[in-house]
Amino acid sequence: MQIKDLIPETSFVQINLSDLLDQLGEDSVKEILSSFSCPLNPDVESFLKNKAAEFSKRGFSKTHIVFWQSADGTEKELVGYYTIASKVISIERSAVNSNEARKLREHGIFDSKKNEYTVAAPLIAQLGKNYTNGNDTLISGDDLLHLAMDKVQKVQKEVGGRFAYLECEEKEKLISFYERNHFKLFGRRKLDRDETNIDGTHLLQYFIML
Ligand SMILES: CC(C)(COP(=O)(O)OP(=O)(O)OC[C@H]1O[C@@H](n2cnc3c(N)ncnc32)[C@H](O)[C@@H]1OP(=O)(O)O)[C@@H](O)C(=O)NCCC(=O)NCCS
Repeated sequence: MQIKDLIPETSFVQINLSDLLDQLGEDSVKEILSSFSCPLNPDVESFLKNKAAEFSKRGFSKTHIVFWQSADGTEKELVGYYTIASKVISIERSAVNSNEARKLREHGIFDSKKNEYTVAAPLIAQLGKNYTNGNDTLISGDDLLHLAMDKVQKVQKEVGGRFAYLECEEKEKLISFYERNHFKLFGRRKLDRDETNIDGTHLLQYFIML
């Protein structure tokens, strides 16, 4: 259930961090981002505060900041963000059904030795609500994830592609969140040495066909 379905006048505005940096400059943007907190996931908080601007500038990934806006547009609150990066994924044949396999074959390459498809797929690399001052209650995770998926779809409408993916910690609440939103598990990836902010030894990999 999305908050905007329950309260139709609720609206969200989002801005690309690169545009925000161009318009306001680094100091003002830092100040806006300093009001973001995400105690449930320190990596999500530290990425936004320490890496997002640099990664946006260098084109490694693009971050989109989401604000809740009152009906008359006078009030705005920072409610969350998501980050998208351009990637390719490899998915084993055994992880998908025949319809998904057909789409993967059409959009990607099949390696018959490894029995896996490789396909271009934007990565929803970060996604989190802002827990400062209860701002997390102004948006649902479903709303935020749909904004990220809408963005991917807009890009794919221009350049082609059908898939998106994400990786998450092996935590019950996160698993049910993504599965409820129709993401499908396709693998587990061992953490890299520098991924020290993440709980566990592996990340779960999910894809969606848009
Ligand atoms: C993931 C998220 C967007 C989902 O939003 P939502 O569906 O509106 O869910 P809520 O914020 O109400 O949280 C639902 C439950 O999941 C739990 N939860 C959320 N993120 C969690 C995390 N990273 N680790 C453990 N539990 C988490 C919450 O504590 C809550 O538990 P409760 O039901 O016992 O109260 C949001 O919870 C969030 O921003 N989490 C922190 C950032 C994060 O982990 N992002 C995912 C990166 S893969």
